[in-house]
Amino acid sequence: MKAAVYYENGGPDVFRYEDVPDPQVHRKGIVIRVEAVSIEGGDTLNRFRGALVTKPHIVGYQAAGEVVEVGEEVDNIKVGDKVVTTGGFGSHAELRAVPARTAWVIPPGMNVLEASAIPVPFGTAHDCLFEFGRMRKGEIVLVQAGASGVGVAAIQLAARAGAAMVIATASSDARLEKLKAYGLTHGINYQRDEVAGEVARITDKHMADVIVDPVGGPTLQSSIASLAYRGRVSMVGAAGREAMVVDVGSMMGGNRSLSGVFLGAEIATDRVHDNIQQLIQDVADGALKVLIDRTFPLKNAADAHRYIESRQAVGRVLLIP
Ligand SMILES: NC(=O)c1ccc[n+]([C@@H]2O[C@H](COP(=O)([O-])OP(=O)(O)OC[C@H]3O[C@@H](n4cnc5c(N)ncnc54)[C@H](OP(=O)(O)O)[C@@H]3O)[C@@H](O)[C@H]2O)c1
Repeated sequence: MKAAVYYENGGPDVFRYEDVPDPQVHRKGIVIRVEAVSIEGGDTLNRFRGALVTKPHIVGYQAAGEVVEVGEEVDNIKVGDKVVTTGGFGSHAELRAVPARTAWVIPPGMNVLEASAIPVPFGTAHDCLFEFGRMRKGEIVLVQAGASGVGVAAIQLAARAGAAMVIATASSDARLEKLKAYGLTHGINYQRDEVAGEVARITDKHMADVIVDPVGGPTLQSSIASLAYRGRVSMVGAAGREAMVVDVGSMMGGNRSLSGVFLGAEIATDRVHDNIQQLIQDVADGALKVLIDRTFPLKNAADAHRYIESRQAVGRVLLIP
């Protein structure tokens, strides 16, 4: 098969488009013919500095397509099903092998490109808001990097759950403008305005009850400074690629909390698997929306990663083999 591979970490230029051996099916796994690769924030980070657990390495967490092989112990998925899959690596390819446990059947008639972009961003945003953020109706939610894949999902889920305000940050007004159609009530352009000061102004000093932070680094400090009394931050990523050196001194007096969230640790549990299947159904039913910014051919994976890192993408960028 063909795959977008690399032999060393670095910028998007490390990608090569090469022939590699087809992946083998595991007795508890499946192989899919990939129809859409959803480039996740973790894919750009892994290309930049992640471990090369295979060489050449095929990066990528998430892809959807048609099942072409099924392991002998798999009884809930069959050849010909359309599925969306996650795994530690291997999405940037024509074929992909994963455990059946991290595959979700796509409802008949659903757009495969949209389905390809659901499990990690929506599953993560859901856990950040509800499982770890304990968000309740009427609370104020702040989403850092609102234009990211996780961010667009978190904005919609918070709005759907009855947040009193859904505030998000982004690096430009144009990016924030696009989020209004997904439930954003107030945008903060952090290139121009200081985040905690703006949250205080917008909320009349109440601040944010629940904060989703996929950026980390100095941004995490702005999240902590934006917390309401008993507020909760779900720290879920390092998109900013900077060290997480934060001062938590303000947290004790306000009974505030900070949780780290890693979906991968629980993605194969019944709780998360069922939750993601429901989120896929919600998109199929039109109750949630997937925002696809643009698609690139798989052979142009470098251009796609470059485009994401130019900070122009809002929502997801896909690769099509
Ligand atoms: N722990 C978990 O379970 C889990 C699950 C999913 C994702 N994540 C992590 O969450 C983060 C976001 O994932 P995603 O898929 O939503 O990412 P994404 O769609 O690629 O978006 C990343 C966003 O981060 C913002 N950003 C801030 N500083 C940046 C920098 N220095 N370089 C590039 N972008 C920067 C950009 O928005 P602005 O330009 O508007 O600031 C960009 O849109 C990633 O670090 C990912 O690894 C973790």
